[in-house]
Amino acid sequence: MQTKTSRFNFNSKNLSTLEKEKIYKETLIGLDSVLKNETNLILKMATINCILREALPYFFWTGFYLVEKGELIVGPYQGTLGCLHISFGKGVCGTAAKTKKVQIVADVHKFPGHIACDSKSQSEIVLPVFDKTKKIIAVFDVDSTEKASFDQTDNKYLELLLSKHFSN
Ligand code: SME
Repeated sequence: MQTKTSRFNFNSKNLSTLEKEKIYKETLIGLDSVLKNETNLILKMATINCILREALPYFFWTGFYLVEKGELIVGPYQGTLGCLHISFGKGVCGTAAKTKKVQIVADVHKFPGHIACDSKSQSEIVLPVFDKTKKIIAVFDVDSTEKASFDQTDNKYLELLLSKHFSN
């Protein structure tokens, strides 16, 4: 099927808003059923990475950085080798952890202090992950090899997914 994006770039893995909405809605339902009654954090993180990366073609690197002893350490992920430690306030992940705010970066080369774990990454979204007490326990990082892959649709559904599976 020809997408809005592919009219301008036939190799693009980026999707139109409508296509994203459809995939996210189906994927969230699938995840609800697969993770029903599951409580283990690592099990949930690993499964979310796998299912999202299979469903969304622009998800090149998908993973969680866990808050541990005042820094971020790499947790479950899918993709090429991720950085092992990230300080609060450093790069996109560290900024999301420090500010507790979602970071959408259209061009990682323009983000001051961006940590280039893989030079193929061009854009990314990082969301804080909160537990039931609203304490930040991790950040969820998704990278794309194309610029400007992430928007408010990704923000909306990923926030919903993280809150369902980690904050409730
Ligand atoms: N992009 C991140 C670093 C982690 S990797 O991309 C896997 C950042 O700047 O925080």
